Amino acid sequence: MRQTISSDFKLGILGGGQLGKMLCQAASAWDVSTYVLDPDPEASASGIATKFVQGSFRDFETVMSFASGLDLITIEIEGVNIEAVEMLEKQGIQVFPQPSCIRIIRDKGLQKMFYKEHQLPTAGFALFNNALEIKEKVANGELSLPFVQKKRLSGYDGQGVFIVTKATDLDLLFDEPSLIEDFVDEALEIAVIVSRNAFGEMLCYPAVEMVFNPVANLVESLLSPARIDENLASEAEEVAKQIADKLQIIGLLAVEFLIDKTGKLLINEVAPRPHNSGHHTIESAYTSQYEQHLRAIFGYHPGSTKLKTPAAMINILGGEGFSGPVIYKGLNDVLQIEGVKLHIYGKKQTRPYRKMGHATILAETTEAALSKAEKVLKILKVEA
Ligand SMILES: Nc1ncnc2c1ncn2[C@@H]1O[C@H](COP(=O)(O)OP(=O)(O)O)[C@@H](O)[C@H]1O
Ligand SMILES: [Mg+2]
Repeated sequence: MRQTISSDFKLGILGGGQLGKMLCQAASAWDVSTYVLDPDPEASASGIATKFVQGSFRDFETVMSFASGLDLITIEIEGVNIEAVEMLEKQGIQVFPQPSCIRIIRDKGLQKMFYKEHQLPTAGFALFNNALEIKEKVANGELSLPFVQKKRLSGYDGQGVFIVTKATDLDLLFDEPSLIEDFVDEALEIAVIVSRNAFGEMLCYPAVEMVFNPVANLVESLLSPARIDENLASEAEEVAKQIADKLQIIGLLAVEFLIDKTGKLLINEVAPRPHNSGHHTIESAYTSQYEQHLRAIFGYHPGSTKLKTPAAMINILGGEGFSGPVIYKGLNDVLQIEGVKLHIYGKKQTRPYRKMGHATILAETTEAALSKAEKVLKILKVEA
């Protein structure tokens, strides 16, 4: 393989959203050239990639021609053309994470089957082809409310998840291949990011705790390290490593967990790439998740995942009732708060709850970081 840390090395990234942008920033620190493919000419990574190519990563031909001449392909989104990345791998081009991992993970149904097959802890589930099949199961008493319906493909940021609590919800079910999962009542949510390289070396970041916005069903703030029992934290790391090892994944694997009322750990879903729950590592850990992903796919040892300081991370979301060219309000007041690190993704248009940026807030304790994060959330407004 060619030397990876060199501007002669061409790293291809399928997807140019915020994760792609931050991956380019880490690659740039190592003088690695980045080639990014995204359909949006104003994608977040478009201004920072060494070369930005406008086109669909969901289209076979587009991906094939984009990848020709590149040294290694990685992803920032699972919804890439799977046949294309499989073909590239067959042709001897390195694709990390491997297409075999992407194929399982992009389909929440296959993910759940994978956990079951490997006896990994996850909530009970069943697969369905359409809404009618689900309604029939409810009608004949084989399925009872509440339950959670998830689209098998292309759900993100809560868009493909429906918590079904009452009979009238049944008319609003997604009418497409989906899975039904047991509703985990009053669940706590944590996430662990693990990296794995081609030599099987694995290292986890300490668990983070997610706090949700109940309306948008989107992470509102995230705390590092999670305020959970030490044993539970190490159990979560152990399970994350087991999944990464069973998948034989090369790259990052972000594992989201639900913790039920009895303290039982359940795998919710995984992502084979940098993740929203790892943004804080840019400022708060010895190694950022983006550098860690590069280390893993390039075959280097993982960097230390030690935390320099506790941190909170908030997503900067498009304000309710605003759509159009974005305006940020309160920036100067927010920047006055000690330890606030702003990341603006550069999306030109705002929409309600669209992820426009994030802020990481450093503090001496998780509690202090959380209270500063709440201040930031009150002050910073995204309007149009
Ligand atoms: N079985 C469940 N029980 C209770 N809440 C759930 C369950 N599954 C998902 N959720 C809630 O919905 C959110 C989004 O679900 P998830 O599968 O992570 O979808 P997404 O791909 O949109 O992140 C979770 O973070 C959690 O808050
Ligand atoms: Mg999720």
